[in-house]
Amino acid sequence: MKTDVVLGLQWGDEGKGKIVDVLAERYPVVARFQGGPNAGHSLHFDGRSFVLRSIPSGIFRDDAVNIVGNGVVIDPITFRDECENIARTGVPVKDRILVAKKAHLILPTHRLLDAANEAAMGKGKIGSTLKGIGPTYTDKVSRNGLRVGDILAEDFRQRYEKLKTRHVKMLRQMEYACDPDAEEATFMEAVDYLRQFTLIDCEYYVNETLKTKPILAEGAQGSMLDIDYGSYPFVTSSSTACAGACIGLGISPSSIGHVYGIFKAYCTRVGSGPFPTELFDETGEKLRKIGNEFGAVTGRPRRTGWLDLVALRYAVMISGVTDLIMMKSDCLDTFETIRVCTSYMVDGKETAQVPFDTYARIEPVYTDFKGWNSDLTGCRSESELPEAFRNYISFMEEYLGVPIRIISLGPDREATIMR
Ligand code: IMO
Ligand code: MG
Repeated sequence: MKTDVVLGLQWGDEGKGKIVDVLAERYPVVARFQGGPNAGHSLHFDGRSFVLRSIPSGIFRDDAVNIVGNGVVIDPITFRDECENIARTGVPVKDRILVAKKAHLILPTHRLLDAANEAAMGKGKIGSTLKGIGPTYTDKVSRNGLRVGDILAEDFRQRYEKLKTRHVKMLRQMEYACDPDAEEATFMEAVDYLRQFTLIDCEYYVNETLKTKPILAEGAQGSMLDIDYGSYPFVTSSSTACAGACIGLGISPSSIGHVYGIFKAYCTRVGSGPFPTELFDETGEKLRKIGNEFGAVTGRPRRTGWLDLVALRYAVMISGVTDLIMMKSDCLDTFETIRVCTSYMVDGKETAQVPFDTYARIEPVYTDFKGWNSDLTGCRSESELPEAFRNYISFMEEYLGVPIRIISLGPDREATIMR
């Protein structure tokens, strides 16, 4: 059996939560493979809404097993809050979630370091969610990190103290005023809570599973926030592309099946960094309002702009996307003209490639489409879609070289057309 992967192809917030929730019906196992509580995956069904941070979006499906994979960084405090919130609705979270022993732990001092780093960068800051993601992955790579499996060790407390001491030294050096002990007791309680879960050797579990069952791997963030291929340094600290699923779960590239790439019919970005098609006018404001583009985690207003096909084709290439999923085209229902960026002008030269230089002045070159000017939200089949809309998606399929298999026309599970 194969692992099918769901990835965000833009700057995050593409609607991964909804799609994983919809697809989870077909998969007995759903697994997160990177990122951490910087993610905010929104789900809407039966008139209820949830925002998931570290827990896979298969959690509300009765038969699905949900894995927090080894590539994830997990904050026991957020994890407990999230689990308790879901448990209140009657979901048996402890029976449905397995946590990889090799996933790294976010300590309260990692969050302080995140804040200290951002403060030190001043105007050049990344615009991090300040959940401790960067410092935790830094400790992982520099071989100082603590892993979930360590909480089972008798000397866990000593290991924690050792890492905390290191962090306190760094915070002092950065002259960052804070109380490193403030959340320690809460953290230790949350670690006790985490111990009640089944902690697994993820690589053995998933490979054993694949002998008889398919897995759905749920990405967080988006391709343009990838540590290698995103708009560095304005990125997150993990591999958000398809290859990250192999490392983050312990599976072979040959076990990857479908690669579902999700994109919104326009673009948003939260935090700093380049955004070639960004709109600073009332059109941008309108997109933000209609699309309700405010951070699910931080509440920050998201930057908005037209769809960027240059960046999207780049993301499709990096991950070998086999199936596209288009979100929120209903948000464009009332626009007279709909623009898509099909190339960039960089230093007076036209190019259809994403330039190396994050600071380059990029002028987007647009192709315009006449808007369909009708309400798509009620459409439940392909035949109900207006011709102008169908022309628009045919153009994108041609440009991207990949079929659009799912069109989402609203946040609810039901507002989905499968093609
Ligand atoms: P989901 O999974 C949107 C952005 C932050 C910041 C940069 C680095 O909901 O799509 P970090 O906290 O990782 O150090 O922040 O990445 N970012 C996201 N933007 N959606 C996300 O996740 C994001 N996770 C991180 O705003 O610019
Ligand atoms: Mg988000």
